[in-house]
Amino acid sequence: MNKVFELPQLKFAFDALEPAIDARTMEIHHGKHHAAYVANLNKALEASPEFFSMPIEDILKGINTVPETIRTAVRNNGGGHANHSLFWDVLNPGGKSAPSGALLKAIESAFGSTDAFMEKFTAAATTRFGSGWAWLVLDGQKQLQVYSTANQDSPYMDHHIPILGLDVWEHAYYLNYQNRRPDYIKAFWSVVNWSFVEQQYEKAR
Ligand SMILES: [Fe+2]
Repeated sequence: MNKVFELPQLKFAFDALEPAIDARTMEIHHGKHHAAYVANLNKALEASPEFFSMPIEDILKGINTVPETIRTAVRNNGGGHANHSLFWDVLNPGGKSAPSGALLKAIESAFGSTDAFMEKFTAAATTRFGSGWAWLVLDGQKQLQVYSTANQDSPYMDHHIPILGLDVWEHAYYLNYQNRRPDYIKAFWSVVNWSFVEQQYEKAR
């Protein structure tokens, strides 16, 4: 298993998501922000190296078993690591541009339609005050839910499985969009890899 946690390589070029997400933002977001979460997670876990043998998702599910002295650091930096790792896969170019199959059926059953789902997700992303994430998750009853979390809090902490996530920290969009978070969210829909989201849904259910 892990010796330490490592920054996953991006599977695409920094400029692959332009114009929705610019190359400079991607370079800093992955190489500085995500890298810092990984480095700080490793630093925190030096005090409890037994956690290096666990997948980050399992550490987050059991966040209350992490020693109190490092729990906040693991919650923030481990959450940051898991959230960004998923986000890069959601953005990986080349997949389907809309949901289909079993995921589409589940979205229609939970939200009425894909458009209604997107509206709900967009509202969650837009209204998250300050820094955080918007999510489509599969909850403990295997039902789809849309909500947002603050900071780097992960759905895994509630034993939910995130299948689609959107980073709404300013570091994710400020260079290109400044304060225009709604424009960034709108552009995000044009680069979602629904093939990945469907795979994530199949694994989760
Ligand atoms: Fe981020």
